[in-house]
Amino acid sequence: MKKQLEEISASAKAEISAVTDEASLRNVQVSYLGKKGKLTAILRGMGALSAEERPLIGALANEIRVDLEETIKLKLDSLKAAELENRLKNEKIDVTLPARSKSTGRFHPLSQVENELTEIFVGMGFEIAEGPEVELSYNNFDALNAPADHPSRDFQDTFYISPEVLLRTQTSPVQIRAMKGKTPPIRIISPGRVYRFDEVDATHSPMFHQLEGLVVGKGITMGDLKGTLAMFAKAYFGEETKTRFRPHNFPFTEPSAEVDVSCFVCGGKGCRLCKGEGWIEILGAGMVHPRVLENCGIDTDVYSGFAFGVGLERIVMIKYGIDDMRYLYENDLRFLSQF
Ligand code: DAH
Repeated sequence: MKKQLEEISASAKAEISAVTDEASLRNVQVSYLGKKGKLTAILRGMGALSAEERPLIGALANEIRVDLEETIKLKLDSLKAAELENRLKNEKIDVTLPARSKSTGRFHPLSQVENELTEIFVGMGFEIAEGPEVELSYNNFDALNAPADHPSRDFQDTFYISPEVLLRTQTSPVQIRAMKGKTPPIRIISPGRVYRFDEVDATHSPMFHQLEGLVVGKGITMGDLKGTLAMFAKAYFGEETKTRFRPHNFPFTEPSAEVDVSCFVCGGKGCRLCKGEGWIEILGAGMVHPRVLENCGIDTDVYSGFAFGVGLERIVMIKYGIDDMRYLYENDLRFLSQF
């Protein structure tokens, strides 16, 4: 019986050491120490032993039971430790992983430039005026002194809704709305969309943006126009920026000019951006034609004014060195997120 006990002990220990999970360990425990377990069966059968043998076998069986219980407890501890170790390893947080970034929205580059220009002019005392994109032909052309045979009135250049109504081809009609029925001084800027019957290419779009400026008051001269635009150019392109006026022709201004700024990349020496010129054309301007003032009921003996119009796409493209206008309308985040 002693030998039988020792065999039970040995096989129990072997099974305990072989198990790899808690459930199997519990099964081993039950199969040896449970009510119907192998060791329990031995203890039950002790009644058949002689009086000398019984205490010896009893003591040995008890010793083995205590030993197995202890072995099971140790095994259980080591299984639990291994499991914890495993979980820690699997659930580890890698603090070196880059955080998931929150992508915040931003203004479209055109809106950014519009806001920047607006801010500069508002800082000089201009107010923001608005006009409709669907405009009267009269405001877009006639009142602005564009004669009936002016090429810009052609079907090929203008989206007409009816002979009297069109999609404005410029922000200049806001000048008319700002002057009619108002008494100077008037100092407005007006950014907005304009439309022309153009094929889409790298430098044309049937819809684009302008920012119009208008000042009317007593004793306003070309000097005021030059000073205002020179100040704007310095504020926007940098303190060293020079301004150049080249004679031009617009129906609604006399005299008229195209305005260039010294290249902000090369400072005027000539580079890729200014195409070796040293100068970059940025806008059209001039003294408001007396006929335009009269069309709005403004007394030309008392008042004079200047106006200017900036193409916003052009400014964005110059500023960021963008060589194709279509990028501005494609809503491709790979492009837009760069600004
Ligand atoms: N409206 C002109 C255009 O679309 C731009 C312009 C030129 C506006 C001279 C003006 C100006 O107010 O004085 O080409």
